[in-house]
Amino acid sequence: MAEIITVANQKGGVSKTATCRYIADICVAQGKKVLLIDFDPQASLTKGFGLNPKLFEGVNTSNICNMFYKEIVQVINIADEDSDDVLHLIPSNRELGLIGREIFGLDLILRNFIKTHQLTKVYDVIIIDNNPKFDAMLINTILASNIVVVPVITTKDEQEGLHGFFQNMEEILSAYSYEVEKVVIVPSRYNKKTNVHKIYLKIIEEEMPLYIQNSCSIISKANVSVSKPVPEKVAFQDASSYQLSVYKFLHVHGSQLKKEEREKLLHLLEKIVKNILKK
Ligand SMILES: Nc1ncnc2c1ncn2[C@@H]1O[C@H](COP(=O)(O)OP(=O)(O)OP(=O)(O)O)[C@@H](O)[C@H]1O
Ligand SMILES: [Mg+2]
Repeated sequence: MAEIITVANQKGGVSKTATCRYIADICVAQGKKVLLIDFDPQASLTKGFGLNPKLFEGVNTSNICNMFYKEIVQVINIADEDSDDVLHLIPSNRELGLIGREIFGLDLILRNFIKTHQLTKVYDVIIIDNNPKFDAMLINTILASNIVVVPVITTKDEQEGLHGFFQNMEEILSAYSYEVEKVVIVPSRYNKKTNVHKIYLKIIEEEMPLYIQNSCSIISKANVSVSKPVPEKVAFQDASSYQLSVYKFLHVHGSQLKKEEREKLLHLLEKIVKNILKK
């Protein structure tokens, strides 16, 4: 059965999409069959592969909105052409935002879609990208997943924002009597030279698991952990301009990083993904 990972935070710009990309490429490099689902109407994940979201609007068979009408959604093959890799994408488009306003009360659409099409038998890992809001779409992705990955920036506002995120998640899990197996908080865009980052990394590492344990009785049944921080590196932005994940970019283009630094970053990302998937 596939692991279904939702990468979520109600804050914007925290590295959700970049995290989806490197988790996917690391899983593919391990020979896993991977499906990415872009559940964000901004469609950054879709655009990141050089695809124009407009193409998937309206009657297009890959329109993600089809799932709300119980119709098929055709996946797009985004694996390298000359490889046997299985890397598929359900792209997003602007219309998902319009549907998002109407889907109140339809919180299980994504879960039912995955079940109906037996996607957990087709793929080893399903990775879902989210928009930066706690809305009906994010509720759909949480209720479809067994692993929740939460990238967070190590500052005061962002750390405090996590409390609200977990409170909302707890309410949703309670309303649907649903439990997730794992929650991994991934401090992202970390600058070890910035004092604020150092202080809030420590707070996140020490206080967030305790906060969950004391205030979120359902989430605390899951395996909750905080990963090592992912550093702020220009390589992430360079990777985007090549339409690659940072993982693939470091492999293919090497970046301006010294070999040692590059290998350290690759190893760190592999370790984070290993921990996310560890049973
Ligand atoms: N570790 C990192 N170091 C440097 N830049 C990063 C890092 N992670 C992500 N970025 C960059 O930060 C920007 C935001 O990242 P990303 O789009 O992944 O965030 P997001 O949480 O998906 O944003 P949104 O909420 O808008 O969907 C992008 O330009 C990305 O290249
Ligand atoms: Mg994004």
